[in-house]
Amino acid sequence: MIFPIEDLKKQDTPCYYYDLQLLRRTLTSLNAEIAGWPYYVHYAVKANANPVLLNEIRQAGLGVDCVSGWEVQRVVENGFSPEKIVFAGVGKTDKEINYTLDNDIFCFNVESLPELEVIDQLAAQKGKVAKVAIRINPNIDAHTHKYITTGLNENKFGITLDMLDGVINRALELKNVSLEGIHFHIGSQLTDMSPYKMLCDTINELLTNLESKGVMLKIVNVGGGLGIDYDNPDEHEVPDFAGFFSIFKTGLQLRQGQQLHFELGRSIVAQCGALITRVTFVKEAKVKKFAIVDAGMSDLIRPALYQAHHKIQNLTGDDNVTCHYDVVGPICESSDCFGEDELLPKVTRGDLLAIRSAGAYGEIMASRYNCRPFANVFVKQ
Ligand code: LLP
Repeated sequence: MIFPIEDLKKQDTPCYYYDLQLLRRTLTSLNAEIAGWPYYVHYAVKANANPVLLNEIRQAGLGVDCVSGWEVQRVVENGFSPEKIVFAGVGKTDKEINYTLDNDIFCFNVESLPELEVIDQLAAQKGKVAKVAIRINPNIDAHTHKYITTGLNENKFGITLDMLDGVINRALELKNVSLEGIHFHIGSQLTDMSPYKMLCDTINELLTNLESKGVMLKIVNVGGGLGIDYDNPDEHEVPDFAGFFSIFKTGLQLRQGQQLHFELGRSIVAQCGALITRVTFVKEAKVKKFAIVDAGMSDLIRPALYQAHHKIQNLTGDDNVTCHYDVVGPICESSDCFGEDELLPKVTRGDLLAIRSAGAYGEIMASRYNCRPFANVFVKQ
């Protein structure tokens, strides 16, 4: 990632900075890995819905994965073609379903039997047939933070394997839904690829099983979750897409004409974004030195919510003198802390710090806590 320091110095902080060249390199690398395969990537909009980023992603030819009617609206307004939109979520309201039906999207990822019945009824009222994929909860442990594990029996997502036959039979009976496929998403920030291997085994078995009952599906959607390197963002600025897709290329036995869909969010946008923050005060306390910055948990909640650590850099400090700091925000909560005992070039009031890998689940998860305004945004073309 390139930091245009002089431009950044002129910005109001806190500020989300995006390096579009890095996003483009990431998208090029991703597209190279799927070329020639019946693979379709839907960018998971929940990671970052900034229109400038969406525009790049659309131009690179990707589809989108939405989890609310408002996300669907955002991407429709951004020019994404409805045939490239999938819509998941355990609690789709009638309003959201109706809006999405009106836009004739590619597929609903359906998470429960009552939802399937409601989509059928609402589609019938419009004289439409909604394309659906059944989200299956495969009970596979993604070995990630418990708040972002989604594929275990105790999670609220999807339909458990023992209930699948009943739901598939019902989908085949209903007149206003068309069963197109099956959908999975086992968790986020996966750095160990073995859960994906297990997922391939589960899917192979399932497809054979369904085929023996005469059910042929056009779509298999394996969701997202590919993790990124938060500790070394410069060494791994583009994620290992080759390694990720090779799991599916070798492990999954797609049938003739079957399409494999992915919903990657973090791996596409995380590394091209950084939260730039100014040091307000350096406070020397009894046992600690605090670098108090003008960004807080309202701007980037990941450290407070998931105990996540983002690499912190002093962009304007002198590399020859270093010191340890707790880097904390101004918000009245002790969890408003970006890093403890961070070794940084000596920090002085006014220095600019970069909190790295903040392109995913940063800006979009911001809140107005303490009546703070949303952070500024600066994009480098
Ligand atoms: N598909 C579905 C159905 C999902 O629920 C998610 C993420 C994705 C795709 C994209 O996953 P990704 O490729 O970005 O890992 N706020 C948390 C992450 C929550 C992920 C929720 N679902 C964080 O900051 O780590």
